[in-house]
Amino acid sequence: MDKIPVILDGDPGHDDAIAWVFAKASPKFDIKAVTSVAGNQTIEKTTINARRICALLGIDAPVARGAVKPMTADPVTAGNWHGDSGLDGPAMPEPDQELSELPAVDLMAKVIRESETPVTIIATGPQTNVAQLLIAHPEVKDKIGKISIMGGGVTHGNWSPAAEFNIFEDPEAAWIEFHSGIPLQMCGLDVTERAIIRPDDFPRIRGIGNQVADIVAGWLEFFYRYPMEIGYDGAPVHDPCAVLSLTHPEIFKMQDLYVDIELEGEYTRGETVADFIGSSGKRPNVTCVLDIDRDRYIDLLVEALHAFDCREVKI
Ligand code: BDR
Ligand code: CA
Repeated sequence: MDKIPVILDGDPGHDDAIAWVFAKASPKFDIKAVTSVAGNQTIEKTTINARRICALLGIDAPVARGAVKPMTADPVTAGNWHGDSGLDGPAMPEPDQELSELPAVDLMAKVIRESETPVTIIATGPQTNVAQLLIAHPEVKDKIGKISIMGGGVTHGNWSPAAEFNIFEDPEAAWIEFHSGIPLQMCGLDVTERAIIRPDDFPRIRGIGNQVADIVAGWLEFFYRYPMEIGYDGAPVHDPCAVLSLTHPEIFKMQDLYVDIELEGEYTRGETVADFIGSSGKRPNVTCVLDIDRDRYIDLLVEALHAFDCREVKI
């Protein structure tokens, strides 16, 4: 089987980190680069987290630092969800490789240019790096096979009543991406808030007994507390949906729709507005992922974590 070359772009972040666990464990993917973006925390923090996650998981692709802030909006961070470090909880290994000398968009462009087959970008933070890539290196667009994102939602938001955090953070970047014509798959809150991992799932993850599984259990034990306080019945572990909807589409429900990004609204800036009734007259530009088989999600996490049974790094 030919592996799909992928770039992992994110703002880790507990759920970004778990998304990367799935990506590294999948035999379908060849991880060509990892790029950080400001979002859940500052770029300094998301970049060091990205490098530590790579050291933990044995991802040996180059890691590059991405956008310091959104294209025009003021940056916000999500320390309430992810803690002061952006990845609070268990101790992590130090990075085991130097940061790339290239900025994220240049590394992305290099990987795409040099790839023999189309590259998939999995973007689980604000879409700033992807938009800046398309602006700075428009010639690589035709070699991007697909972009799979965590962001948005067709029914509600989580950072404002209408907008989800990743799109709220940088709506202009999302607008560029959604209008790029590149095949786009969107895991919004519709599906990701059903990708709930509950406290009674934790013993199964701890029980796996390898180092990565213990750390993932520790991340979840930290990450579920804030959402439980505000009324969720566990941790909505959003970002892995952007990976799994590529590797295991059979556990999801999807629908092709025209989706636009609200840039102006006083109450709705950053909303992903989906046309279910065809009144825009526009052809679908997004495959919206709308639901997940949660039990399979947990089974697949356990399966993915067993890929690390023989890995142990110094912490
Ligand atoms: C998104 O925001 C971040 O806090 C998570 O990592 C996820 O990508 C959910 O709204
Ligand atoms: Ca994220």
